[in-house]
Amino acid sequence: MESTPQNLLCFFFFFLLHRTTASSPPPLFPKQALPTRSGYLPVNPTTNSAIYYTFYEAQTPISPLSQTPLLIWLQGGPGCSSMIGNFFELGPWRVNFHKHPSEPLALEPNSGSWNRIFGLVFLDNPIGTGFSIAAKPEEIPTDQFGVAKHLFAAITKFVELDPAFKSRRIYITGESYAGKYVPAIGYYILKRNAELSESKRVNLGGVAIGDGLTDPVIQVATHAANTYFSGLINERQKSELEELQVAAVRLIKARNWREATNGRNRVLRRLQNMTGLATLYDYTKNADYETSLVGELLSHKEVKKALGVSNVSIVFEECSDLVGDVLHADVMKSVKYMVEFLVKNSKVLLYQGQYDLRDGVFSTEAWVKTMKWEGIQKFLSADRNVWKLGGETAGYVQKWGSLSQVAVSGAGHLLPTDQPLRAQAMIEDWVLDKGLFANVHEAI
Ligand SMILES: *[C@@H]1O[C@H](CO)[C@@H](O)[C@H](O)[C@H]1NC(C)=O
Ligand SMILES: *[C@@H]1O[C@H](CO)[C@@H](O)[C@H](O)[C@H]1NC(C)=O
Repeated sequence: MESTPQNLLCFFFFFLLHRTTASSPPPLFPKQALPTRSGYLPVNPTTNSAIYYTFYEAQTPISPLSQTPLLIWLQGGPGCSSMIGNFFELGPWRVNFHKHPSEPLALEPNSGSWNRIFGLVFLDNPIGTGFSIAAKPEEIPTDQFGVAKHLFAAITKFVELDPAFKSRRIYITGESYAGKYVPAIGYYILKRNAELSESKRVNLGGVAIGDGLTDPVIQVATHAANTYFSGLINERQKSELEELQVAAVRLIKARNWREATNGRNRVLRRLQNMTGLATLYDYTKNADYETSLVGELLSHKEVKKALGVSNVSIVFEECSDLVGDVLHADVMKSVKYMVEFLVKNSKVLLYQGQYDLRDGVFSTEAWVKTMKWEGIQKFLSADRNVWKLGGETAGYVQKWGSLSQVAVSGAGHLLPTDQPLRAQAMIEDWVLDKGLFANVHEAI
């Protein structure tokens, strides 16, 4: 056939069309990145308040699924979405994992995912956070008891989704302000289990807190010494910070809770000003963590649809100001007594990134040594073992009985973001009582 101008034109259009489809960018949310399931777990039988979850089944379960542990992740804040943990820290797909933050948005497989051999659940907690639904602002919990009550309802609902979940051990994990949530739900589960029939109990295996705020009255008083001995401030600045710390502690002792939280913020702001660091979450960084990439990812309707978000018009916020405000007076209240109960009746892991200036190693050790637990002296005099991974020093592990503490090398506050493989190896060995977490027969 002779080519007429019309034919040529047709061919040209066909060519154009073909080229555009062939070179259209890959979808923002590849099919392989879809959670195994996601949706809503009601927390109140009379309203539609619900906790949003994403669940990723284990990639290569090491045991029958009915025996494969389930990890639950809780973000801090108060009011920050666990989707930060999911897409920026420890989930199977991370946003711009290897790419620079300025490159176009893309999800990439995370070799350090916590669902390598365990099931992994992210909960947007409390209601009002992330994609979770608070039917009314007054339903948002104002304290840790309220938080735990909702979490218990959500976890119970989650377990009911699949009969095979019932026999799986559940480990509660979380970071930062979740240093309050994690003990609160762990404690609540143990107390409730004691009064429930076998079939209604939650199969708790243990709790793990990363860079946590747990006993603020002691932790708020550690910043001056920590930064002074890290070489970041001088002695005069140390004294000035100490005065601010004393003021915050005084407000706690006076149970002036909202002001006490402001008092802590003053300490952190002053410290930020003195050091001029990009972030107190990691004193080695020249730029803050780019968690806004998660907000950008979740602003796309196509992504919200893929994740089973019920109302794709909802504007995703990394952290909810409303929830932050509702829990503002709770921030400085200690949950140390809950950790003491958990260490006696379950097992506890406390892990920190060595560069974190907010809730790091020194901050954690300061309250741990004041714990009321018959094993505490044994724990404090136990060896701090050098932990090697792939020929490198990955950190330090100290363990006695049911309490383990890990200082992870080369990491800040968002520890799995900075050291994905170390974080993964740590959580796997701790859950499975392996490596430096093995239960040896301890001499009395
Ligand atoms: C610290 O605060 C002072 C007084 O407000 C200001 O002039 C200075 O630029 C701040 N420094 C840094 C590093 O933020
Ligand atoms: C969906 O969310 C938008 C934005 O928050 C809101 O205006 C709208 O009423 C919601 N729709 C439903 C059906 O809840």
